[in-house]
Order: sequence, then structure tokens, then C-alpha cells
Amino acid sequence: MTIKINSISPDKRGACPAEFSFGETFSDHMFIQQFTPEKRWHNQQIYPYQPLSLDPSAAVLHYSQEIFEGLKAYRRANGSVNLFRPQENVRRFNRSAKRMVMPEVDEILHLEAIKSLVYLDQDWVPHQQGSSLYIRPTMIATSPKLGLGASRNYSHFIITGPAGNYFKGGLTPIPVFVADEYRRAVKGGVGEAKTGGNYAASLFASEEVIKLGYSQVLWLDAVEGKYIEEVGAMNICFVYEGEQIVTPELSGSILPGITRDSILKLAPTLGYEVSEQRLDIEVILADITRGKITEVFGCGTAAVISPLGKLGFKGKEYVINGNETGDVATKLYDELTGIQYGTREDKFDWVVSV
Ligand SMILES: Cc1ncc(COP(=O)(O)O)c(C=O)c1O
Repeated sequence: MTIKINSISPDKRGACPAEFSFGETFSDHMFIQQFTPEKRWHNQQIYPYQPLSLDPSAAVLHYSQEIFEGLKAYRRANGSVNLFRPQENVRRFNRSAKRMVMPEVDEILHLEAIKSLVYLDQDWVPHQQGSSLYIRPTMIATSPKLGLGASRNYSHFIITGPAGNYFKGGLTPIPVFVADEYRRAVKGGVGEAKTGGNYAASLFASEEVIKLGYSQVLWLDAVEGKYIEEVGAMNICFVYEGEQIVTPELSGSILPGITRDSILKLAPTLGYEVSEQRLDIEVILADITRGKITEVFGCGTAAVISPLGKLGFKGKEYVINGNETGDVATKLYDELTGIQYGTREDKFDWVVSV
């Protein structure tokens, strides 16, 4: 399979603007390929970023049969560009595809498409500290049919765009509301797949908590409303006594984050103990009150590490580490971003250069 490249001539290309926020500006080109049961994946092309043409009855628009991914390209000081664990993203993409009854993509072709796209639009990889080129692979069900069932046809496309800090405050702690009424995903459902419905399901509570002065929702399990799952679109870690990092075990309704996995592997090399456990919200709040939990942070590709300054639950507020950014979050942030931007040793061979 070869990718046909229809590039915009260099003098007509756009340029990465000096200022941008997350996910609102897109670079010059996109990748796309189509799937039909007869031809399988075919028509691999890179062409100028443009609107898709979809039948109004396309299955994705009605029954949300879609999946996506999120990863980044980082500018090194010497001008070259790094990807971080992109193979993990494509594996998760294919696991999501399976769960959503969609055809898997060829891993090598998908990575080749990402590399070609980033190489072609390399001028869009920002130079500013902490910024990157966000890469959004997506697959949608395109068959024009309203009868409920898996689509026959699909489009797989990849777009990219410059990204600054996901949260405007960067490593500044955020206030988080523990959802006692609403749930994001349920075990046996599609929580561990990266599919739009999970995010649509989270919007109502996310908007409500902003009105209350919080910036994200901490999600509890949907069966008992007792066990901690994720925070916003991030996994969550608790630090005990400045030494032990504990994160909820993967339950089927939690997205298995690549940043989470990287922390579980990296933290022991920095002298921290790590474990994955079922975490009861009442126990966690008691441990915050007793000062046993010294830091809490979210982790994910978009924000890398985001400290939590306080938790609101059932009318009470629990302040963490005096609402300050802690040492563990800072060390992990420095180590992870150091590997991503090529300023620290890549002990695990995670970086792929474009
Ligand atoms: C719901 C959810 N949880 C966790 C994560 C973190 O995953 P990763 O570290 O792979 O970005 C994400 C982001 O992709 C997410 O959307």
C-alpha cells in the first residue's frame, strides 16, 4: 500500500501562527483512506486539509460508530521532530476499532501516514516551549443507512494542528468536582475504547461543574458510584507520603492511557513505588484529610501532568498539598517532557523520530 501525496506547493502553504490554543488551528494537509468490504482499505492519500463529504444518513452521524486517537509531535532543540510511543496509539486505535465493530487498520501504514504528514507539515510543529503538533487519527462509519447495525464502509483520516498548553495555567493546580450524580462510562460498555460517545456522555456534568467554579470532573464507577476512575479526559494518580504513586486499576470503563502507562514504567526509575488499585473515594478523601495523600494529578497526552488543587464532593472541599504543585508532579512532568523533547535520556526507547 502506498500513500499518494497531493501536496500544496510550498509558496501556497499556511504557516503556524505565533499564538494558538489546543485544537482550534489545523495544518495544511490531512491523510485519508477508505474501507469497503470488497476492496478493504484502499485509496490512501494525503491532500490539503478540507471538509469531508458525507451522506446525511451516514451511520456515524446517527449511531456514533466512530473512534479516535490523540498523540503529539515534539520539536527538538536541533530542529528535528519526535513522536512519543506512536505504536501504542495505533494499537489502542485498533482495540477501539474492534470494540466498535470497525475494521482494524494496518499499523505500519497508519504510522507511515503520521510520519509522512508530520514531515510534510513540519513547519507547523511549533518551536515554543511546551507546545507541540497534536495528531488526531479518526475513523468514522460512512455507510448511508439508518437501520441499526455496523456500517459496511468507513473512512480513516488523520489531521494535525499546533497545540499549546491544554490548560491555560499549565502546571497550576486545578479544582475538580467529584461527580456524585452523573457517570461517564460503565463496565461492559465502551469506556475503555476511545470513542466519541464517552466524551458526549461527559459533557453535561463537565459544563455543570464549571458553573460551580470547578474545571474538571472526577468520574466514579457507574455500578456502585464508589470507585475512582478518571478525571476529565485524563487518568488520575495519587501520591502517598511523597513516595508511592497509586492509580486506579483498569476496570474496563477506564481508558488505558499511554501517559499513565509511561508513568507506571518511569516512576520506579525515579525512586517512586507504583501500584494499580481499586480506589474507594471515601478512603481517598480521608487520606487527603489526614495528610497521607500528598499530591494528586491527572495525566494524559494533552496536558501531560495536571495537578489537582482541591476536590469538591457532597458539599465539602478537600484541599490537596495546600493547592500547590508538588515535587512528584513536577519531577514526572520534567522527565516525561524531557524524553518527549529529546533533552533527557530515552531509557525505554519510546521516541520515534520523523
Ligand atoms: C478519557 C481519557 N482518559 C485518559 C486519557 C489519557 O490517555 P493518554 O495518556 O493516552 O493520552 C485520555 C486521553 O486520551 C482520555 O480521553
